[in-house]
Amino acid sequence: MQRSLQARLSVALTLAILLVAVGAGAFGFISAYRDSIRLQDDLLLQVGALIVRLGGSLPDDGAVGSYPGADHESRISVQWLPQPGQAGTTGAALPLPEGLHDGFQTVFMFHENFRVYVQPLPSGRRIALAQETDVRDRIAVRAAWRALIPVLILVPVLLLALQRIMGRLFAPLASLRGEIDRRRDDQLAPLPTTGLPTEISPFVDAINRLLARVQGAMTAQRRFVADAAHELRTPLAALSLQAERLHQSELSDTARERLQRLEQGLARARTLVTQLLALARVQAQDQAGEAPRQRLVLREAVRPVLEDLLPLAQQKNIDLGVDGSLDAEVDTNAMELGLLLGNLVNNAIRYTPPGGCISLTLAAPAQTPPGHVRLEIADNGPGIPASERERVFQPFLRLDPAAAPGSGLGLAIVQSVAARLDIVVRLAASDEQSQAGLRVILDIPAPATATVRPGQQFIAPG
Ligand SMILES: Nc1ncnc2c1ncn2[C@@H]1O[C@H](COP(=O)(O)OP(=O)(O)OP(=O)(O)O)[C@@H](O)[C@H]1O
Ligand SMILES: [Mg+2]
Repeated sequence: MQRSLQARLSVALTLAILLVAVGAGAFGFISAYRDSIRLQDDLLLQVGALIVRLGGSLPDDGAVGSYPGADHESRISVQWLPQPGQAGTTGAALPLPEGLHDGFQTVFMFHENFRVYVQPLPSGRRIALAQETDVRDRIAVRAAWRALIPVLILVPVLLLALQRIMGRLFAPLASLRGEIDRRRDDQLAPLPTTGLPTEISPFVDAINRLLARVQGAMTAQRRFVADAAHELRTPLAALSLQAERLHQSELSDTARERLQRLEQGLARARTLVTQLLALARVQAQDQAGEAPRQRLVLREAVRPVLEDLLPLAQQKNIDLGVDGSLDAEVDTNAMELGLLLGNLVNNAIRYTPPGGCISLTLAAPAQTPPGHVRLEIADNGPGIPASERERVFQPFLRLDPAAAPGSGLGLAIVQSVAARLDIVVRLAASDEQSQAGLRVILDIPAPATATVRPGQQFIAPG
């Protein structure tokens, strides 16, 4: 059984139309056929009456093959019938049998049926008017088919109109489904109810009430995570301080080694809490609405990130720099873009082996979608396999936990910030051929005439 309401309605209405069409067609066909036969009988009657009115003036001996004006097909033979006791008329066109009664009857002659009308005249003589039944039938069938034409034209037009109307009726549902499908997991704004049929809007209202409850639950959960992360920062800072103080005490080698591991663990916990807090804040802000955007030169947003991370790059002897100029204007939020870039550059530094190279490049306008500026961050580290490039954005997902310490939240933060700032993030390989290295492509909204000025700026370690 079809479960689609539209399909069911469509099938039911199509069947109903076809049923009505078949009924109307059959009725039209039969009544047109009957009318035509009756009309032809009337014709015989009228010809008979005419002959009576003309005083029965027929050639004595024979028959008239057809009356004037009759076409060949519908020709009517008119001939005298022999009087009782008299021999048959010589030279008559049709060998009419004896004993025909007055009025209509069907007679078999010349291997076919004839419709014969016997008309008595005031003189006592009788004339017979005969017409081939086949011819009459053919005329009647033709008339019947002609009666079917309107039905045959109307049915396809009606079916087409039905499909159109169904499409229109169900269009609001289809657009509602599209709207829901396009949403991200965290887009919980109420669904639009304007223009919806009254049968559907109560459902949408119910979905909207559910969305509001889910929104409330999510907000509470995020607030809890943010509060927990925030609350954890103070004791963690205190623990770190105590661990640092322990260094000043006399310690055995084993104890010092354990202290070092303790400090590493504390550092990891601090990173986790920082990232967790950053993610919770971005997501909480996401619900609060759009990030305020300013027009700024991309270089201004990149510089503090590079300044922050340059020491880390230097520690690993990584060549971190800007290739070309970043003098393009973008419409964005400097703080949040900084958070996004910080996570990406931080990843590049941590996953690229010592002595590697990381470059930030502005793509040529020809390769950039209109209304955007394309910034690429490429490293020559291990890269991310194509099959994992979608998955790595999930929170806490780490491909190779042994590669570098981390919490697995960096790319989730990147994705949340990008969604807020309408930045499109794409992961690719730095070297398409060997699939080596990671290239993060960022399409950042920009004023319609984004300016890229020539020039070189390069920040290198050391
Ligand atoms: N530049 C890169 N090169 C290779 N792998 C990467 C790169 N950036 C990210 N990855 C992979 O993607 C995973 C997810 O990255 P993400 O930034 O979300 O988490 P993380 O770096 O492990 O932790 P966090 O950034 O929260 O400290 C990483 O664990 C790593 O396996
Ligand atoms: Mg990271």
